[in-house]
Amino acid sequence: MRTLHKGRQSEKSLFFKYYKWVLWFSFTLYFLTSFFITNKPLPLSKTRVSGSKSSLASRVLFESVNKTRHKSKPKNPAAFKDLKIFIYELPSEYNEDWLSNKRCSNHLFASEVAIHRALMNTYDLRTFDPYEADFFFVPVYVSCNFSTVNGFPAIGHARSLISSAIQLISSNYPFWNRTQGSDHIFVASHDYGACFHAMEDRAIDDGIPDFMKNSIILQTFGVNFKHPCQDVEHVVIPPYIPPESVRNTLEKSPLTGNRDIMVFFRGKMEVHPKNVSGKFYGKKVRTEIWRRYNGDQRFYLQRQRFAGYQSEIVRSVFCLCPLGWAPWSPRLVESVALGCVPVIIADGIQLPFPSAVKWSEISLTVAERDVGKLGRILEHVAKTNLSTIQKNLWDPAVSKALLFNDHMQEGDATWQVLESLYKKLDRSYKRSRVSSQ
Ligand SMILES: *[C@@H]1O[C@H](CO)[C@@H](O)[C@H](O)[C@H]1NC(C)=O
Ligand SMILES: *[C@@H]1O[C@H](CO)[C@@H](O)[C@H](O)[C@H]1NC(C)=O
Ligand SMILES: *[C@@H]1O[C@H](CO)[C@@H](O)[C@H](O)[C@H]1NC(C)=O
Ligand SMILES: *[C@@H]1O[C@H](CO)[C@@H](O)[C@H](O)[C@H]1NC(C)=O
Ligand SMILES: *[C@@H]1O[C@H](CO)[C@@H](O)[C@H](O)[C@H]1NC(C)=O
Repeated sequence: MRTLHKGRQSEKSLFFKYYKWVLWFSFTLYFLTSFFITNKPLPLSKTRVSGSKSSLASRVLFESVNKTRHKSKPKNPAAFKDLKIFIYELPSEYNEDWLSNKRCSNHLFASEVAIHRALMNTYDLRTFDPYEADFFFVPVYVSCNFSTVNGFPAIGHARSLISSAIQLISSNYPFWNRTQGSDHIFVASHDYGACFHAMEDRAIDDGIPDFMKNSIILQTFGVNFKHPCQDVEHVVIPPYIPPESVRNTLEKSPLTGNRDIMVFFRGKMEVHPKNVSGKFYGKKVRTEIWRRYNGDQRFYLQRQRFAGYQSEIVRSVFCLCPLGWAPWSPRLVESVALGCVPVIIADGIQLPFPSAVKWSEISLTVAERDVGKLGRILEHVAKTNLSTIQKNLWDPAVSKALLFNDHMQEGDATWQVLESLYKKLDRSYKRSRVSSQ
């Protein structure tokens, strides 16, 4: 009896143990399955537009909202605490189609692509519920029409493309109309930002289109005086340089390696500058550099394009960053990232992320009119405070702040953008409603 009883008891407890395990297993299975079902990653506007454009688009827009309402969110950096950004899912003709040309995602204006990608991947910040969003990101790529003969992107279609995107979101969603777009974000990464023209006079004449004037523009263009092309709420962002290209270069020649070139510049330097409707490229500054220093032992000046020119930057002590049509240039980022002291020659330029990058400590500024004294100025710096500047410049945090990564990293360029946006939370419709209640 006793043994039997005992035997039954152990049998019972064995069954109980087994039963609990089965229960645990089924629950785990259940949760895993439901996780995968509800957390299907959203494709970036995979929809091809055909047939009735607006009805299809509106279905895409609303479906993507509702499908993912209760998405559980993986953890991400806590720095921006409760900041929420909604990213519109636009038909692919507004963005993804342009990526069929590889250059679209890695040329100097590609921050419009890079910021979109990075935001898509910031799980905690990105919200799929537009009602809880502080800001609305409108992903339109306008700098990727390389159909022109000279290979530079044509931006003539930028206004109509963005205008049509706004038409789409404002008729399908209530969010644009309730603030006239003031909590909406665009990237305008070419020469004169949202003025959408490479020539300053034309850019100023055309101005920022009315439909973008209330919004927040992330733009490479910035000057420290009043200018019609920045007369809008904006954040100055760096031009785009692919971070992997920088990594590849630094793998071959480290930041602190030998720098046998004293002063470097490669780029357009017209010997006989063309008068383009009353204007000269780079205000003739580059022509002056060429005339004055071509043949000077200390200067390595090249007028032709060369794919391996990052390997020249990393060999150089000073890298000239003169203005082109616009004051900013991709060289600003390339020289910083590759540890060559940027010599900025662009009067009145406003540089990106001044709170993260102490530009006066890592670069030199030479007035346009003083370009003829470059040799003497740089010689003096080389003898006095060059090593101090290099020490500041080679702090990894500096170059990090100017590079966009597909997955945002703490302190990188997307991070800096978000920090700037965080300071503009007073434009959030959601917040203004909460505080007035
Ligand atoms: C999606 O959700 C919104 C708000 O809850 C609702 O008004 C709308 O009808 C829904 N759309 C679809 C397609 O279910
Ligand atoms: C691209 O630019 C060219 C030249 O400005 C223009 O004719 C063409 O319509 C543009 N393409 C698109 C798809 O906007
Ligand atoms: C927003 O305003 C425009 C212009 O007044 C109008 O055509 C559109 O229907 C409005 N959108 C919504 C969602 O009500
Ligand atoms: C440049 O061309 C414009 C006409 O397009 C003319 O008025 C101006 O005088 C020229 N400037 C110079 C310095 O040649
Ligand atoms: C280095 O010296 C130059 C020229 O004297 C000066 O303009 C610059 O501000 C100095 N930079 C630093 C970081 O000390």
